[in-house]
Amino acid sequence: MDKLLINGGRRLEGSLRVSGAKNAALPILAATLLTGETVTVANAPHLNDVTTMVKLLGRLGADVAVGESPQVTVTAADLRSLKAPYELVKTMRASFLVMGPLLARFGEAEVSLPGGCAIGARPVDLHLKGFAALGADIQVADGYVQAKAPRGLKGARIKLDLATVGGTENLMMAATLAEGETIIDGAAREPEIVDLGNCLNAMGARVSGHGTARLRIVGVPALHGAKHAVMADRVEAGTYLIAAAATRGRVRLRDIDPGALSAVLERLQAAGAEIEAGADWIALNMPGRPGAVDIETRPYPGFPTDMQAQFMAMNAVAEGSCRITETIFENRFMHAQEINRLGADIRLLGPSQALVNGVESLKAARVMATDLRASFSLVVAGLVAEGETLIDRIYHIDRGYEMIEEKLSALGADVQRVS
Ligand code: UD1
Repeated sequence: MDKLLINGGRRLEGSLRVSGAKNAALPILAATLLTGETVTVANAPHLNDVTTMVKLLGRLGADVAVGESPQVTVTAADLRSLKAPYELVKTMRASFLVMGPLLARFGEAEVSLPGGCAIGARPVDLHLKGFAALGADIQVADGYVQAKAPRGLKGARIKLDLATVGGTENLMMAATLAEGETIIDGAAREPEIVDLGNCLNAMGARVSGHGTARLRIVGVPALHGAKHAVMADRVEAGTYLIAAAATRGRVRLRDIDPGALSAVLERLQAAGAEIEAGADWIALNMPGRPGAVDIETRPYPGFPTDMQAQFMAMNAVAEGSCRITETIFENRFMHAQEINRLGADIRLLGPSQALVNGVESLKAARVMATDLRASFSLVVAGLVAEGETLIDRIYHIDRGYEMIEEKLSALGADVQRVS
């Protein structure tokens, strides 16, 4: 099993291009099932989660080609199966996103209940309630969800009790081919949802309000082929900014819209970082030891849960103490005790709050990655720590960070993959 060996204690300095967003690429690849024509997805990141989605589309019978640039071309003309099997869905929760498109286009779908990161229960009840509101008959048996709408879906008013990202995406995709108008209130507003909405509209859908809490989708009889370039990965960008700040470094990121990162940039500035930004770039300089800053995760445009772990690692070496509050997921502090193995002083005050007392320096140790974003918090800690930190189970990182050794090396880090 691959491990990452980091010889820490160096400042990150240099410039990087931000990859395409995993969390936008996955729903957009699922959306290719909404048409029999060819959809070209450009700027798709080369990641294990994307490979899993490509495999799933192939298993359903779509014709998928992964080309240079990187670009994925999908033609889902004749599918041979409408079933997403357990072995593919269990490794990645986002596989559940094929349900909306299959149900909308074929009137039927069978999808395994999802697995994915071990961060809380993460049910799909809101997806299912929404499909039922659109007229589908939903049965759960033997770990699979079976959905049927033999006469097609019907537009409806849906109120989401909680701004679920995946739920909003699944229902938005399903509604594109439903008869009549669908209104989704309480919709999630993440930039990845805007990207998906734009792709759906390029395919002939009539989606409006994406990026607000009220989506309006007017169903059309069929969608057509299109070409869409995936937005830049704001989580990857924020992660490298936090890593640079923790090492008192200086980085410049290209091909990224700073607007999507406002909450993170504001917290980095509060920690003492100097930030400059243009239309598609962000530069950060951390002139000295970061100051501790409180964070509380919130749905977009609040501070993203996917950057909580990395920020905790920076706070671990900051001057002062702070509180980190996680409001999106239960059980998302598994990284705290691993960071403590490097000499940090992080105390859990309960399932959703941690107290971080900043320490002067960290010391290298062997640690284990527990989930995707948590893994990168260990990388941040390892980059700061004096000596050789070995991070085990980095397959978690490979799910969501493209070319991590190359990117970190380009910034002057001493990292290598070992088995
Ligand atoms: C997406 C992101 C993930 C991010 C998360 C929150 C992708 C592929 N993944 O995950 O990186 O951490 O948004 O920003 O885009 N919930 C329910 N019932 C449901 C659905 C969700 O109770 O039917 C709860 C979940 O347990 C969780 C919260 O809602 O506590 C947020 O989940 P959700 O927004 O759905 O996250 P994902 O779409 O799975």
